[in-house]
Amino acid sequence: MSETFSQLLLKWYALKGRDLPWRYKGGAHPDPYVVLVSELMLQQTTVKTVLSYFDKFIARFPNVESLASASIEEVYLYWQGLGYYTRARSLHQSAKMIVNDFHGCFPCRKEDVLKLKGLGPYTVASFLALAFNQPETVVDGNVIRIMARLYHMTKPTDEIISEIFHKAEKLTDKENSADYASAIMDLGATICTPKKPLCEQCPIAVYCLSKNSDDVDQIPIRKKIEKKHMEGYVYIIRNKNGDVFIRKRSEKGLLHGLYEFPWSEKNIFPDAEMTQKTVSHIFTHIHMNLKICYLKAEDFAVDGFFVEEKKLSNYAFSTLMKKVMKTIGLER
Ligand code: ADE
Repeated sequence: MSETFSQLLLKWYALKGRDLPWRYKGGAHPDPYVVLVSELMLQQTTVKTVLSYFDKFIARFPNVESLASASIEEVYLYWQGLGYYTRARSLHQSAKMIVNDFHGCFPCRKEDVLKLKGLGPYTVASFLALAFNQPETVVDGNVIRIMARLYHMTKPTDEIISEIFHKAEKLTDKENSADYASAIMDLGATICTPKKPLCEQCPIAVYCLSKNSDDVDQIPIRKKIEKKHMEGYVYIIRNKNGDVFIRKRSEKGLLHGLYEFPWSEKNIFPDAEMTQKTVSHIFTHIHMNLKICYLKAEDFAVDGFFVEEKKLSNYAFSTLMKKVMKTIGLER
């Protein structure tokens, strides 16, 4: 009898699947905390980037209790550079809920996991599959690409997304959902890649209708989302001691609670000295370009405070502000 899709995939995973620090090959991960941290870090962030943060985060916050009792400021410090800081806040709030509302025991019922912060349907499914081997189907960008290619689906993804979910669900190995979820993500990341997929090495090629076809790397068809361009100014303001002015972003909205140098879309300090240096950063749909400006001042009507340059590392800055610091040599 020929082997099924999941048999082929799982056999390949046992041999070629990636060894990742948050992963446990051969079933559910024994520590759901590790799965929760990694799944939140991996939302909108590549494995490569997460790898350089994960171990340090777990070394400082080795369990849910240590995370719940830490301040959000410290959590931000360890998240600094990973971007999308709402995830750090959600993770921190979820840790507190697990300690206070679930007596430190990780919930394993879907309706309870849904009560945690920052977990959408995708993360709930991946958490339940990876931490508890529950028969959940994980549908991320990798799985969408694999399904669309497997069935040679050439309509735009948003028109066929429910069909993709249905097909992904039918193929999931419900008895080995933890390994199956990791395996299919690895297949997407290493073989069925967006560009130049390695069809010759693909363990499930016998089932694939797009194998080696000319249009395989054009599938799935996605609508392009236009990025908005935004120009602005960022101000490095020093007092006569050379201390640098920073402010805390409001607790609501983008990058809330992080620190920054004042910036604006308009030049709000006409006396500032403009430089030729700019920093660029892409937020989800916004392409931001800030011109760096210097200013001397003692105090003015912007909420914030001056800090000694060497103490800047005590504050968590957004990735954009880290880029500003690097550009002007403020990074320690
Ligand atoms: N992307 C999201 N979750 C992942 C995981 N557990 N392993 C690899 N990539 C992922």
